[in-house]
Amino acid sequence: MVMSEYLSLSEASELIGKSKETLRRWDREGKLSAVREPMSNYRVYKKSEVLELFTDFVNDDVDESNYVEAENDYTVLELFAGAGGLAVGMEKAGLKCIALNEIDKFACATLRKNRPNWKVLEGDIKAFDFSEYQDKVDVVTGGFPCQAFSYAGKKLGLADARGTLFYEFARVVKEVNPPICIGENVRGLLSHDNGKTLQGMISILDEIGYNVVPVQVLKAINYNVPQKRERLILVGIRKDIGLEYEYPKPYKKIYNLKDALKKGELFETNVPKSDGAKYPKSKIEVLDLVPPKGYWRDLPLAIQKSFMGGSFHLGGGKTGIARRIGWDEPCLTLTCSPAQKQTERCHPDETRPFTVREYARIQTFPDDWQFEGSIAQQYKQIGNAVPVNLGKEVGYSIIRFLNKYYSLSKPK
Ligand SMILES: C[S@@+](CC[C@H](N)C(=O)[O-])C[C@H]1O[C@@H](n2cnc3c(N)ncnc32)[C@H](O)[C@@H]1O
Repeated sequence: MVMSEYLSLSEASELIGKSKETLRRWDREGKLSAVREPMSNYRVYKKSEVLELFTDFVNDDVDESNYVEAENDYTVLELFAGAGGLAVGMEKAGLKCIALNEIDKFACATLRKNRPNWKVLEGDIKAFDFSEYQDKVDVVTGGFPCQAFSYAGKKLGLADARGTLFYEFARVVKEVNPPICIGENVRGLLSHDNGKTLQGMISILDEIGYNVVPVQVLKAINYNVPQKRERLILVGIRKDIGLEYEYPKPYKKIYNLKDALKKGELFETNVPKSDGAKYPKSKIEVLDLVPPKGYWRDLPLAIQKSFMGGSFHLGGGKTGIARRIGWDEPCLTLTCSPAQKQTERCHPDETRPFTVREYARIQTFPDDWQFEGSIAQQYKQIGNAVPVNLGKEVGYSIIRFLNKYYSLSKPK
């Protein structure tokens, strides 16, 4: 071995400005393979390969990946699972779904169709006892629908929240006792009932033995999702665990509609053909007048007034109304029904809503993930989902936390 052609771990790390830990990980992932110096058995790197990677950094401004390998088999119990957006993301990150609960029969059919081996518990969460999973699950996750609590001033306790779906989420966390739990919700939870709903949730998690990490709203566009969707993440860490949780780091690269629907970095093929909803004739006549990236303000004044009705005088931008998406921008947040009034997201070239498979792509579901039920049911399941790629990045953050936890405490 001619050592002048090789760099030590420290030299390689200094040259490309990445930590030694990152380089060790890249070695494991095969991104930058090291060889072992025969005498010392230390990692050394081919100088030419390091320099090549360094040039890539300078040219492409490559982000550090959130990827982390699970050092043990970790399990998830997913509540309010819908059609599986979060569950598929977690699975992609390397977590195993031990069971999923969902009330909607079409969403359950979707889960069963795609993953016959998953244990899908169909029905109202209130009817299920999860104590068989006590101390057997690493993370409980769930996108509980948001409901106000009725309480007057005092600190909210678990018993006061009875009847709400957040109560059920907290009840299950208490029954199962995982090291970490993750709730997901819409940004609106921050201001719901003047912030009292969120405060109530934090105080309930505190009461059942979980510290809540400062809440963050993650923007899906920062996590390889071609859509401007946001998700509020509520992370609880069991109080006996003195470890910090870190949110997944946002990526600089932003994907757009073209990346969602055409062959490229996100998908290996153009979007498959599929069924989709149609606009009524009256809406087609209006949207035909809107250019890509345009919205209701691009219409002639008389049509603006008739299309907007009462909202015309309300002020504010309302840039999501009569909107035609452009190929070179991320899509606006998809809703549960694509032809819904005043939230149009029209295809860039054709005057129609996105098809089911286009919807799924914008939410980063893989093309082989099939949805059950009528077309309307399929759109609803997709529109309700956490984007798969966002779920995957959150999954990595959970794995990073669990790796630390199990390396410091009892082995799994
Ligand atoms: C926002 S969606 C969850 C989306 C899911 N996390 C995903 O990524 O695809 C909320 C889900 O909660 C379900 N749900 C509502 N009430 C429920 C209940 N009482 N028991 C079980 N599931 C319920 C709804 O049917 C809906 O699918």
